[in-house]
Amino acid sequence: MPIEGKTVAITGAGRGIGRATALHLAARGARLVLGARSEMELAAVADEIVSSGGEAVFHITDVVNRSDLEALVALACERFGRLDVIVNNAGIGPLSRFDSLRVDDWDAMIDVNLRGALYGIGAALPVFDRQQQGHVVNVVSTAGLKIVPTMGVYAATKNALRTATEALRQESGAHLRITEVSPGFIDTGFADASITDPQIRAAIVRRKEELAISPDAIARAIAFAIEQPDDVEVGSIVVRPTAQD
Ligand SMILES: NC(=O)c1ccc[n+]([C@@H]2O[C@H](COP(=O)([O-])OP(=O)(O)OC[C@H]3O[C@@H](n4cnc5c(N)ncnc54)[C@H](OP(=O)(O)O)[C@@H]3O)[C@@H](O)[C@H]2O)c1
Repeated sequence: MPIEGKTVAITGAGRGIGRATALHLAARGARLVLGARSEMELAAVADEIVSSGGEAVFHITDVVNRSDLEALVALACERFGRLDVIVNNAGIGPLSRFDSLRVDDWDAMIDVNLRGALYGIGAALPVFDRQQQGHVVNVVSTAGLKIVPTMGVYAATKNALRTATEALRQESGAHLRITEVSPGFIDTGFADASITDPQIRAAIVRRKEELAISPDAIARAIAFAIEQPDDVEVGSIVVRPTAQD
């Protein structure tokens, strides 16, 4: 069981896709290092894992702070002796039209979705280099594959991360695996958590209720990438509802 015994750090692990991935990997024997800003949510996920016989620790992490990612990776090394996988999953999507000029939301998406993932990569690479083994999983989005109105800046941050992921893949040698995962509409609180425009939020929530699929689908996709043999790199996975256009 290649997932068993692996140490996996996940950002945005308190709810949604991050939580589902943490629970799925823990059930398959991985040791989890959970990061997000909400201590209550992180503690609940860690408790759920530990009370089911798994192993999990958490660190309050705001991915806009480089030092928080360094501390998350350091926690993995202290508690479990190594880090096998970092899942850069934390993300926000305060969607809006450009002419509503929600410039602070644009900045926040760049900071969390792009800069935050880059900080995760930067924190993990020295450990992966030392171990001569590691795996970076970046959560992007189908919003970057089919570009639609209101998702311009969000899609731009996800596609910037996609571009960086491909360059990292080419730079990385035989010891490092790089995976990008593009979820479609997933049934999480993502829209409620971050969309500040009430009309757009209502439209996205309606769409989600029509067709969204469980975050477990993304957890299984991430597990698939991790469980491959070390010389097999799953580069890109797109998982969307069958009904999504
Ligand atoms: N749901 C979808 O339909 C969908 C589709 C495509 C891609 N995605 C991507 O999937 C990822 C997860 O989304 P989700 O649907 O699971 O969203 P979610 O339910 O809103 O969960 C987001 C997670 O990220 C954390 N987070 C947000 N800002 C953070 C920050 N600055 N630092 C650290 N953690 C932060 C949140 O915790 P705190 O608020 O406590 O920090 C939470 O744990 C995101 O990257 C998103 O862009 C989602």
